[in-house]
Amino acid sequence: MHHFQYVGQNLHCESVDLAEVAKLYGTPTYVYSAATIADNYKRIVASMKGLDVRVCYAVKANGNLAVLRYLSNLGSAFDFASAGEMRRVVAAGASVKQSVFAGVGKAESEIRMALEAGIYSFHVESEPELARINHVAGKLGVKAPIAIRVNPDVDAQTHAKITTGTSANKFGIPLRQAAAAYEAASKYPNITILGIQSHIGSQITSVGPFVETLEKLAPLAASLREKHGISYISIGGGIGVVYKDALASGPFSWWETQPEARRPLTPEVYGAALSPILKQLGLKVLIEPGRSMVANAGVLLTRVEYMKRGQGKNFLIVDAAMNDLVRPAMYDSYHEIVPLHRDTTRAALVADVVGPICESTDCFAKDRQIQALGEGEYLAIMSAGAYGHVMASRYNARPIPAEVLVKDSAFEQVNARETFEQMIANEKIPAFLK
Ligand code: LLP
Repeated sequence: MHHFQYVGQNLHCESVDLAEVAKLYGTPTYVYSAATIADNYKRIVASMKGLDVRVCYAVKANGNLAVLRYLSNLGSAFDFASAGEMRRVVAAGASVKQSVFAGVGKAESEIRMALEAGIYSFHVESEPELARINHVAGKLGVKAPIAIRVNPDVDAQTHAKITTGTSANKFGIPLRQAAAAYEAASKYPNITILGIQSHIGSQITSVGPFVETLEKLAPLAASLREKHGISYISIGGGIGVVYKDALASGPFSWWETQPEARRPLTPEVYGAALSPILKQLGLKVLIEPGRSMVANAGVLLTRVEYMKRGQGKNFLIVDAAMNDLVRPAMYDSYHEIVPLHRDTTRAALVADVVGPICESTDCFAKDRQIQALGEGEYLAIMSAGAYGHVMASRYNARPIPAEVLVKDSAFEQVNARETFEQMIANEKIPAFLK
């Protein structure tokens, strides 16, 4: 359940009127709800009651320092895809000692940094990576804890661009070769085998692919426990969330505040399906949710620039663009778009909601029915807390947007909008042009 709702006619995040935030900090601005993050975190942990579970939140979904600190306060550890993400967690004042490092292309410098920081485990994606980790650990005179990411060849039935668990993907070591990879790992003097890992994709909306993966992995995990004394299994992230009808813009109806009712895969269903298999393994369980922790905890506030009536087509031109939130342009993804001030007496219109960038893909929604709006009015693009700000760019020399965290009736800007001076700070005219 998220904490964005209309109070009277105005959309609130927890007890904060979002129009106030938009006026104070300008737009486009991301706003996050702490209570929603806490609910998401607690639900996934509760769904696996009886197991020794550790959440390693996937930093890539939303790496804002305040979000990381809040998740750390809740008890979360982290899953890194780069040394930069690890440094973010350190900068947020959180420990990395319970955290894991994933990714197919870990650089030597990143491995060194992670070892020096005392990382819990590396999730190894290839044999050359194993050799490199062993080499770096040897130079530092330490042993590197690892788990091998096993590719189970399971179709996650999600968007082609975010599926990772089939043999066509670059991720992990194929299940058939995994036992041999563990044998190889056991021969390296500076490696400690600690676990087994798998992550099959993102925005997965049914529990079937997770169960299939775990069933495929279970025999290997059991034999690794016997042979190499592994102590944990990481089952990755990937739990899907509600994007469509995350909040309806039409007249109030019972389901407007009940997006959970239409949620295809809840944490409870996930936990109930996986727990029995996990209990049999008797291993510590790591999960790496990103999206399901933060997606519905964030919105992107934007302001209407123009209402342009085209030939048989309306365009609602807003001040946010694909550089601020790239998911619709990149994955054709759907995001609910609602007015901050709802007025049911106004006519609805059908429009494309587009940004100011000079590209046709700079479009948040096609032929969307939306309340008639005019210049200067605000909108919220819903479910933008995951893979939103982290994927923002400066395309068209647009600054990286601001971020605000709300908790109850308190709110604070936790990342200021980039200034033009910051944008060009590292650039210079070379001497030979002067
Ligand atoms: N663990 C590993 C090893 C991953 O690669 C990922 C995501 C996660 C965990 C977290 O998955 P989640 O719980 O968030 O589904 N930019 C795309 C999503 C890319 C996901 C990449 N890996 C999007 O906007 O949909």
